[in-house]
Amino acid sequence: MPTPEMSLPEAPRPRVLVTGGTGFIGSHTTVLLLAAGYDVLIVDNLSNSTADVVGAIETVAGRRPDFVCGDVRDGALLARLFARSAIAAVFHFAGLKSVAESLVSPLDYYANNVGGVIVLCREMAEAGLHTLVFSSSATVYGDSDTLPLTESSPLDPAQPYGRSKLMIETLLGDLAATDSRWRIASLRYFNPAGAHESGALGERPRGIPNNLMPYLCQVASGERPELIVHGNDYPTPDGTGIRDYIHVMDLAQGHLAALDYLNTHSGFVAINLGTGRGSSVLDLVHAFERVIGRTLPRRIGPRRSGDIAACWAAVDRARELLGWQSERGLDAICRDAWRWTSTGRRPQP
Ligand code: NAD
Ligand code: UD1
Repeated sequence: MPTPEMSLPEAPRPRVLVTGGTGFIGSHTTVLLLAAGYDVLIVDNLSNSTADVVGAIETVAGRRPDFVCGDVRDGALLARLFARSAIAAVFHFAGLKSVAESLVSPLDYYANNVGGVIVLCREMAEAGLHTLVFSSSATVYGDSDTLPLTESSPLDPAQPYGRSKLMIETLLGDLAATDSRWRIASLRYFNPAGAHESGALGERPRGIPNNLMPYLCQVASGERPELIVHGNDYPTPDGTGIRDYIHVMDLAQGHLAALDYLNTHSGFVAINLGTGRGSSVLDLVHAFERVIGRTLPRRIGPRRSGDIAACWAAVDRARELLGWQSERGLDAICRDAWRWTSTGRRPQP
């Protein structure tokens, strides 16, 4: 006679929809979801990523996520996907993220970012699905003199990109206030950087990178002649800008912790995901140079317009609610970003 356990059918794995799952943060989070035993369905329109990332995720995670090339603003597509298989939760990464581009094309940013969330939430509600983890940003905060930034610091984003994120948070808060079935975590990322430690997954910026870490990587690989440090006359210890750089795998882990939290909590909550530590541009450059064992060409340039002097996160809420905190430091961020750049990186088409 088989034991009762042997005769039980295997429980189906809970399935998570990851929008934007072939992008930088979504792909790393998908790896952890797969490793934690979830099934993953990615919907991405490949506007800022490529389909081969699905294979890279499989290489790293040992299991392949399902992938549909499509747009989150396509309500009919979402309805079909929700009808086809039971989804337990949605991680919504899909969106446009360039501050500079948002200043030139604000309508694109509102249409994609805000419009995408409206369609997604409508279709989720229609399908009886109410658990959502949303990618917000520290750009929702204003330029504050009081650091670290807590979730109650003033909200005053300086550009359309940040305003689109704040509009979405407002919208999600309204939704949760009117229907108690919603369980929504809005995660305010500080400065995500680094790559998967395998070197098989990482960030693939198109064109000239805006952000410091991908730019540093390209200087180190010889694709750019030198780093220009945007200003050394800020009121910080070494005069360069201070940010809270968080390893992308720590960030990904924070999403799984948020999903666990939502299993037992309803309503809307905004949570900072950062390390709680600020590092200057020169701190990051020195860490990178330590990791690669050589110095990098650099010069001091003028301040970049729109930049603030310093910004880092208060991480108490993440620790208290999610039981999560970052584990990796600057050296790991630099080591993994460099491994990805020097071994695994493929150019964007
Ligand atoms: P990314 O561009 O690498 O990934 C976003 C993915 O979404 C891309 O693969 C893109 O093709 C896809 N996408 C865009 N619009 C879509 C749409 N309408 N339908 C379907 N797919 C769509 O960006 P990322 O760095 O992984 O960022 C993920 C999320 O986190 C974004 O919402 C971004 O605003 C937010 N965020 C990122 C950072 C950061 O520094 N990377 C910081 C704060 C917040
Ligand atoms: C930028 C975005 C922000 C976004 C964040 C993470 C702007 C104004 N803000 O912020 O909305 O959430 O990226 O994606 O674009 N630096 C240099 N040389 C360089 C590049 C950067 O010195 O070539 C300096 C910057 O002046 C800053 C620091 O490095 O002090 C970090 O810059 P960056 O990586 O662009 O991030 P943020 O400015 O925090």
